[in-house]
Amino acid sequence: MSEEVLDKGRLPRHVAIIMDGNGRWAQKRGLPRIFGHRAGVESLREIVKACIELGIPILTVYAFSTENWKRPQSEVEGLMELLVEYLQKEIGELKAEGVQVRAIGRLQDLPAAARSELAKAVTLTASNQRLILNLALNYGGRAELVDAFKGLALEVQAGRLDITQIDENTISGFLYTSGLPDPDLLIRPAGEMRLSNFLLWQMAYTELWVTDVLWPDFRREHLIAALKDYQGRERRFGGLKSFDGGD
Ligand code: FPP
Repeated sequence: MSEEVLDKGRLPRHVAIIMDGNGRWAQKRGLPRIFGHRAGVESLREIVKACIELGIPILTVYAFSTENWKRPQSEVEGLMELLVEYLQKEIGELKAEGVQVRAIGRLQDLPAAARSELAKAVTLTASNQRLILNLALNYGGRAELVDAFKGLALEVQAGRLDITQIDENTISGFLYTSGLPDPDLLIRPAGEMRLSNFLLWQMAYTELWVTDVLWPDFRREHLIAALKDYQGRERRFGGLKSFDGGD
């Protein structure tokens, strides 16, 4: 599918992706799982480039969850090495292409090398405006809510926030994604029909698009298919199609 099928005026502002299926991709080829993750980095490169070219302003990718520490130590270490390698290799191009790198999750618990490469990438690209690439690392939707509520409770305790002032915007402001619009579209490769603890608060009204294609096989054409499908959806946010809420 080529990009001519898309209405450029109705692209999602924020696309989220669960980069799933790397292990299965490797297993099908009789390779260790880390080869699947390595191939997954190639898909990420291609999709970042495609988002820039298509004009999608925000991309959030689930790279490592709070639950992924349960995997064998060698896989966890391999993933952290891949992250460092990706940032080191790509930072020049990301900076030149106008990508602003951000990260969400309990970043303080990542290994030191990953933290320092991330900090460098975030600082170097902070003024870029073309695409926000948000890497979810040691991320969990529930952990994010726990951290948000703790932050909120501290403000109340310190007398800086009154409980009666708390509304949905207040809570959004305490999330790692503070300041970003909620995802319009979630893409899930590898066929699973679940959210896997990703952006739980933010995805209340997100359109879901699932494909059996494994993440290492996911290409620009699959992104375009997802966007095309998204453009055919009717988003009502709990309202009615022909009623704009006015009385
Ligand atoms: C899920 O596939 C994928 C992950 C847990 C890691 C995703 C990471 C990358 C694509 C590369 C590293 C990221 C960066 C930012 C450089 P899975 O292993 O659960 O696959 P399976 O369900 O087939 O076993």
